[in-house]
Amino acid sequence: MDSQYLRRTYVDDLGGVRLHARDKEREARPMHDLTATTQERDGPFFSDVVGGLSRVQKTLPCRWLYDERGSDLFEAITRLPEYYPTRAETEILADRASEIAEFAGEDAVVVEYGAGAGVKTELVLDSLCAPQGYVPIDIAEEYLLQTAERMASRFPGLWVRPVACDFVQAFDMPPGIPPGRRIGFFPGSTIGNLDRADAETFLRQMWRHVESGGGAIVGVDLLKDVDVLLRAYDDHEGVTAAFNLNILSRINRELGADFRPERFRHEARWNEADKAVEMHLVSLAEQSVAIGERAFHFRHGETIHTESSRKYDRTGFASVAAVAGWDLAHVWDDSEGRFCVFALVASDDASIHGFPAAA
Ligand code: TRP
Repeated sequence: MDSQYLRRTYVDDLGGVRLHARDKEREARPMHDLTATTQERDGPFFSDVVGGLSRVQKTLPCRWLYDERGSDLFEAITRLPEYYPTRAETEILADRASEIAEFAGEDAVVVEYGAGAGVKTELVLDSLCAPQGYVPIDIAEEYLLQTAERMASRFPGLWVRPVACDFVQAFDMPPGIPPGRRIGFFPGSTIGNLDRADAETFLRQMWRHVESGGGAIVGVDLLKDVDVLLRAYDDHEGVTAAFNLNILSRINRELGADFRPERFRHEARWNEADKAVEMHLVSLAEQSVAIGERAFHFRHGETIHTESSRKYDRTGFASVAAVAGWDLAHVWDDSEGRFCVFALVASDDASIHGFPAAA
C-alpha cells in the first residue's frame, strides 16, 4: 500500500476514531521532537513550500493554509460582516430547501468536498428526504472527524464515512457506500480557488464519484463591484490577514524555517484578467528566510501569492460545468444577487470523459 493511499485514510470506525497513517506517524515522531522537523523535510509540505518559493512569482499552495489554527481562523472569516459569501449561500440553501430536496430525490448519498465545519451540510441533510449516506472529504483531519461525528449523532442511521485527503488530487470513493443517488456538494465557492484547468479536472472527478445520473450542488461567488470583493478578503479586524500570515508560522513550526511574520503584510488584489481576488503576503523589507539548508531572498515589496478566489457569472460557470460533463438543472441566487447555487446533473454522454461512445 503506497503512502499516498495511507495519507488518504478512510476513517472507518467513527466510535474509535482511527486515523491509521497519522497515528503511526505520531507514535514515531512526537510533536515537539526536533528530529520531526528534519523528517518533515522530505514530505509534500516541504516540497510544495520549496517549489513555490523558488518561482519568479513566489507562491504557496492554498491547501496549506488550513492547519488547525488556519481552519479556526477560516471559520471566523465566515462570520465577518465583510465576508458575505457564507451568509448569501446559507440564505439560498435555507430558502430553497424544498427545491433542493426535490432535485436530490429520496435516499440520496451526499458527498461533500472540503467539508470544514459542516454548517451548511446540516442545512442540506435536514432538507433532504431520508438521506442514506454522507461522505465528508477534507484535508483538515481534526475538523473532518468532528464534523463526521456531529453528523452521525445529529442524523441517527445515516451512513457516515469521512475521507481525509486533498480533493483536488485523484482518489476513489470509499467502499460500501449505500445505494442511492449520489449528490456531490461543493459549497463555499471553493471552486473559485481552483484555476480553470483544475476546476475542470475537479468537476470531472466529481462526475466519476457520483456516477452517471448523479447530481451536484455547487456554490459559486459572482462577479460584482471590486471594492465589495476586496473588502471580503481584507476585513477591518484583520482576521483574513491573520489567516493568510498563519501559513508562515506553520512553515516555521513544521519545517523549522525562520520567517518573521511581522515582516510581511497581507494584501488582497483584484486580477482583472483572471477575474480573481488574489491573496498575497508582501515583504516589508529586503530579507532572507532559511528553511533548513536553503535560503530564500525577498526584495522589499516582493510578494508570495497564497490564494486566488475566481469570480464567475452564471453562463461562465455553466459552460465550465458543461465541458466537464454536467447539465444545468437549476440556478438559485440570494436576494441581493451576490452568490449562486447551481444544481447540476451528471450527463451520460460518456464521450466527454474520454471513453469511446457505444457503437
Ligand atoms: N473559498 C473561500 C473564498 O474564496 C476561501 C477564502 C475566503 C479565503 N477568505 C479567504 C482564502 C482568505 C484565503 C484567504 O472565498
